[in-house]
Amino acid sequence: MPMTSSTSLITAPPSLPLVAPSILSADFARLGSECAAVLDSGADFLHLDVMDGHFVPNLTMGPALCQSLRNMFPDTYLDVHLMVQHPMDFIGSFAAAGGNLFTGHIEADCDPSELAQAIHNAGMDAGIAINPPTNVDEILPHIDAFDLILVMSVNPGFSNQSFMKEVLSKVDTISERLRPDQRLQMDGGVSLSTSQACKDAGCDTLVAASAIFGSDDYKSAIEGLRSS
Ligand code: DX5
Ligand code: ZN
Repeated sequence: MPMTSSTSLITAPPSLPLVAPSILSADFARLGSECAAVLDSGADFLHLDVMDGHFVPNLTMGPALCQSLRNMFPDTYLDVHLMVQHPMDFIGSFAAAGGNLFTGHIEADCDPSELAQAIHNAGMDAGIAINPPTNVDEILPHIDAFDLILVMSVNPGFSNQSFMKEVLSKVDTISERLRPDQRLQMDGGVSLSTSQACKDAGCDTLVAASAIFGSDDYKSAIEGLRSS
């Protein structure tokens, strides 16, 4: 089994920044066509928010939904963000369902080194996320093991919350320690009015739900986030 996916979209991106719609704000009754629309509008990949009702106060999607998207979009990179208490329990099922990136949280019940190893052993890229209240020092000893670091700019659980600009200092601290093959992702309240600050601080990968799916024009929304 590979230790890392050295040629993936995130470890060897064709250009930066990458922009990923979070399907949490899609119309779930039309999920396939919503995903096709954002991909046709320039989205680099899809972000799937998995919530367990324990780690965060909401329930969303699981491996079956990931598998359906994999079947419909065989070449699309699928980024699975696990807001769950026990991420290790779901590595195998999301790998089997076609996930490409598996991001767990530093606040979850697992050893970060074991998490990265298990994700890589399952053939996926490995991500680690940090919530707004968590001190950046918690994640620094572990960043070398991961392909992507996700700095949450809202308390996770729901889309359409306000961007917490105080997390930008974490981005600063983390970005200067990353290798060229590692990505720094921002998720939560990313919009035309906050995306430039994210990029200025060092983010190269932006996730947005409401700013894209709440727009009448997905192409303008995605291009706006990329170039604003
Ligand atoms: C938050 C999720 C985010 C969320 C972002 O719990 O991890 O991915 O969908 O939603 P917006 O972009 O609307 O803040
Ligand atoms: Zn997310």
